[in-house]
Amino acid sequence: MMPQSTPILQAKAVTQRFGRFTALKNINVSFDRNKLTAIIGPNGAGKSTFFNVISGAFPPTEGQIFYNGQEITGYKQHEFARIGISKSFQITNVFKDLSAHENVRVANQMRTSRYNILTPRGNFKALHAQADELLEKVGLSKVASKRASELAHGQQRALEIAMALASTPELLLLDEPTAGMSPEETVFMMDLIHRLSQERTVILVEHKMKLVMGICEHLIVLHHGEFLAQGTPEEIRANEEVRRVYLGQN
Ligand SMILES: Nc1ncnc2c1ncn2[C@@H]1O[C@H](COP(=O)(O)OP(=O)(O)OP(=O)(O)O)[C@@H](O)[C@H]1O
Ligand SMILES: [Mg+2]
Repeated sequence: MMPQSTPILQAKAVTQRFGRFTALKNINVSFDRNKLTAIIGPNGAGKSTFFNVISGAFPPTEGQIFYNGQEITGYKQHEFARIGISKSFQITNVFKDLSAHENVRVANQMRTSRYNILTPRGNFKALHAQADELLEKVGLSKVASKRASELAHGQQRALEIAMALASTPELLLLDEPTAGMSPEETVFMMDLIHRLSQERTVILVEHKMKLVMGICEHLIVLHHGEFLAQGTPEEIRANEEVRRVYLGQN
């Protein structure tokens, strides 16, 4: 058993350079198990870059990533999925010509068929039932048979989360899940994320600080690629430096 005190995810001295530009400078942060944590910061702070590093899109230029105390720096994308880390991107990433239900089934099948050489046909029923359950969870049961391209933007993002959940991850990573959403869709998505975080660890990237204040237990603030602050919503709200970098922003 993993001691409860071992962070689920840890970044040690993470630096990311793109050519001569340094997008992340020596970031040291730990993420607690079973918490809903948000990485916040103004536009261009390095949030998506950090998200990419901790979700395995690319390894950091320098530094290390640990998952449940085990170093995973340099692991490939599919290895992240196998060990229990799943993500959805800032940009919607669904198969537009497939139905919502088919999208979830494909996401699940990609996981099972990659690691089992034989995917028994008996699994079909189980896949179907799991897709039903996941679509229900994200509020898409009514549009299960609609093509993804026909869904509203917010519904496509919800579908993407259902796909990310198909591998039953221990850790779910979300990059700006409310990007481009209407106020109603945003409220629904925040509520969904809060519900999902009751069952697993969720790390969320968001540039609108106010949005995450109500639901997150812990916040990590980046600014110009540097770690600025971390703490509870109350602590972050009261932090002078955070207030300064967010001045004039929403
Ligand atoms: N692949 C890349 N090549 C060069 N520069 C990059 C690359 N990716 C990001 N950057 C730069 O790194 C900085 C941080 O970008 P990043 O996308 O991580 O910010 P962000 O905090 O996610 O911003 P936003 O709130 O707009 O999503 C920006 O100046 C960006 O231009
Ligand atoms: Mg971003």
